Amino acid sequence: MNLRDFVTWAGEAGTLVEVERAVDPHLELARVIYALDGQPVLFRTLTGFPGWQAISGVCAQRRHFAAALGCAVPDLVHRMADALAHATPPPMLDSGPCQEVIEEQVDLTQLPIPCYHPGDGGRYVTAGVVVIKDADFGRNISFHRLMLLDERRLAARLVEGRGTHTALGKAVGDLPVAIAIGCPIQVLLAAAMSPPKGVDELSIAHALAPVPLVHCQTVDLEVPAGAELILEGRITHMLADEGPFPDLTGTLDVVRRQPVIEIDCVTRRQEPVFHALLPGGMEHKNLMGMPREPTIFAAVNEVCRCAGVYITPGGTSWLHAVVQIEKQHEEDGRRAVWAAFQGHTSLKHVVVVDTDVDLYDPADVEWAIATRFQADRDLVLLTDQPGSSLDPSATQTLGQKARTAKMGLDATAPLGEARQGYERVQYGPVDLAQYGVKRKA
Ligand SMILES: Cc1cc2nc3c(=O)[nH]c(=O)nc-3n(C[C@H](O)[C@H](O)[C@H](O)COP(=O)(O)O)c2cc1C
Repeated sequence: MNLRDFVTWAGEAGTLVEVERAVDPHLELARVIYALDGQPVLFRTLTGFPGWQAISGVCAQRRHFAAALGCAVPDLVHRMADALAHATPPPMLDSGPCQEVIEEQVDLTQLPIPCYHPGDGGRYVTAGVVVIKDADFGRNISFHRLMLLDERRLAARLVEGRGTHTALGKAVGDLPVAIAIGCPIQVLLAAAMSPPKGVDELSIAHALAPVPLVHCQTVDLEVPAGAELILEGRITHMLADEGPFPDLTGTLDVVRRQPVIEIDCVTRRQEPVFHALLPGGMEHKNLMGMPREPTIFAAVNEVCRCAGVYITPGGTSWLHAVVQIEKQHEEDGRRAVWAAFQGHTSLKHVVVVDTDVDLYDPADVEWAIATRFQADRDLVLLTDQPGSSLDPSATQTLGQKARTAKMGLDATAPLGEARQGYERVQYGPVDLAQYGVKRKA
């Protein structure tokens, strides 16, 4: 589902917020996105950037992904697992909407790249999908925040060891790059996944939902034909200051020396829509957390029957998960805790629940902890573990993996006869219309 189809879907679903009044991409846009976080918002007019619109919240709700993939929300984890297992190369088109206009003169300052927060190092591209080819592993796509330096240059945050960083390390000269902005939802989801090296994320995206590609104008790379805007250029070995910028946790990340990207060509749609993703907002959270759910699911399934996984927004969509199991053995809850930590190494806290608990409902999960969990019996506590660099409370040492404590709560009920007394009583269904009453909102 490309961005324009999403706008149509969100409009028809009654969830799209449309802002007609002109909004300034300098600080004002982010304030409005923040106030409406969790909802898709279309900004019809941008102060200083005639002809441009902006959108935020494309990935702010799980049902957006479900609509894009044509499935129900609980099936997303299975669809992601299937696509990871059966990546399918996308077809190539001769031309596509993302090349309707080819900009002769590159001037990045004329793009509505927002400044999100007064503490930021500059204007930032936050929903740019970076396409490169690794000399050994082939095509790789991933998100990298990009700070505008001047008319032709951006500073890219390349986390050490990630696909783009590794490929640049091997490149003798500049590494050709294409940055796609305003991508189809399945491409955004695939770009956030970390499959084994050599597995092409655009093929994962195509396995999720069709993604025809076009060849770039000036670099030997392919990009989604339906994207809104493409920046073509080279990642150089030159460095510039990047940051500060808010991270997933909503806390400010530090300034680092990072690689400079030089842009040589800009292609775009007519009347393009700029995708502005709020750092630390729901869109960022979903894209970070959801792709880890199939890996936790697979790891837990190795040791017991896993029924579902939810990486929770309250835990910054990175550090906390709820794992639902079909318990068959008394040890399954504890086994699931250990496996979940293996399935997502940055996970810090995990709660394991039975299938009668709604893993998406924090109150229901808390009910399971309240009624089924005893800390001196059901708590798995680990000290001095490798943790997330995003956690300000972990022990952070520059150049090393953070160290953290981890905690797993087995909030499953016992099996067999002992289970009686742990089950919720059920009341029969009623048709409220027959009583002339409605549930109040
Ligand atoms: C919204 C968003 C922003 C991200 N920003 C960055 C970033 O600035 N730098 C980075 O290295 N990874 C960033 N990531 C993470 C990578 O895109 C993600 O881990 C990807 O799977 C890396 O895959 P790779 O190792 O195959 O390149 C971001 C992810 C999301 C969802």
